[in-house]
Amino acid sequence: MKAIIITQPGEPGVLQLAERPVPVPAAGEVLIKVKAAGLNRPDIAQRKGRYPAPEGAPADIPGLEIAGILESVAEKKDGAGGRWKAGDSVCALVSGGGYAEYCCVPEGQCLPLPENFSFAQAASLPETFFTVWSNVFDRGKLQKGDHFLVHGGSGGIGSTAIQMASVWGCQVFTTAGTPEKCRFCEELGASRAINYHVEDFEEVMKGLYPSPALSVILDMIGGEYTPKNLRLLADEGRLIQINAAKGKSATIDLLEIMRRRLVVTGSTLRARDSGFKSDIARKLEANIWPLLSEGLILPVVHAVFPLKEAARAHELMESGGHLGKIVLEMP
Ligand SMILES: NC(=O)c1ccc[n+]([C@@H]2O[C@H](COP(=O)([O-])OP(=O)(O)OC[C@H]3O[C@@H](n4cnc5c(N)ncnc54)[C@H](OP(=O)(O)O)[C@@H]3O)[C@@H](O)[C@H]2O)c1
Repeated sequence: MKAIIITQPGEPGVLQLAERPVPVPAAGEVLIKVKAAGLNRPDIAQRKGRYPAPEGAPADIPGLEIAGILESVAEKKDGAGGRWKAGDSVCALVSGGGYAEYCCVPEGQCLPLPENFSFAQAASLPETFFTVWSNVFDRGKLQKGDHFLVHGGSGGIGSTAIQMASVWGCQVFTTAGTPEKCRFCEELGASRAINYHVEDFEEVMKGLYPSPALSVILDMIGGEYTPKNLRLLADEGRLIQINAAKGKSATIDLLEIMRRRLVVTGSTLRARDSGFKSDIARKLEANIWPLLSEGLILPVVHAVFPLKEAARAHELMESGGHLGKIVLEMP
């Protein structure tokens, strides 16, 4: 099969098209003929050598999400029949190996294609939807009517979080880097998008709410954002870290955490076991997939590149010129 491999850590040019054997599904896994694969920021970190694949995932083929047609199902250990059969159209969260014509995945991590979705649209969903659900809804316990802030609103995670939280009945706030990106976030459902290059998000939020009003903040920036985030949380509020792009160290006021019973937490999805990921898949299927099929939450695909142009797709993501998701399509 054709696959994009990371020939060595480095710039986008290290991504090269190569021939690799078709993988063989282990017990409990399915083999998918991949039609499209989504790009995510962690793919860039992996290409640069800073985010190695977990055990069991292909070491040099990036790609955390796919959509395609189920080719075969490995026999289950107990001989029982599984949910999926050859020919089913699915999308799936994978631990790596998505930039390829075939990919194996534990069957519980598959979801059906939402109604009327193309493979490219469906491939743009799993990584951000699993991440946002598990962090914002499970870990952060976001409730209808809550006030929610997500940083980086115009990216893959941000555009997903804005839509999911606003459909959930929350007031959503976000930060983004240009007036165009801010408009895009507000069109997706944010009540107010703050251009972080020209406005201080803490000052803007304090202008809107003199008393701290945010129940949940989803942050991937860290560093100097952290004390500001904490000051904006309402009593019992939750700050959830999914990266620390601008600094893994921050000074925080521990007395404020005690006084206002704040929670600082975070997680990484990729290394979690398949039982955990399958559990999120079922929650998404029950709670969010119907909203996708009804058009209440939209896939946001900014650009689609052929597989062999994965390096160009990475360049676009690193330039920050995208709104939402970037997808690769197989030949
Ligand atoms: N922990 C996990 O399980 C997990 C899973 C998936 C992703 N992630 C993390 O989540 C983050 C987003 O991933 P993604 O795939 O959505 O990437 P993406 O599409 O590139 O989005 C990143 C966004 O962050 C914005 N941004 C950059 N600097 C910012 C700042 N100082 N303040 C506010 N926004 C800023 C960018 O907007 P501008 O270009 O306008 O600045 C961009 O829209 C990444 O850091 C990734 O590593 C974590």
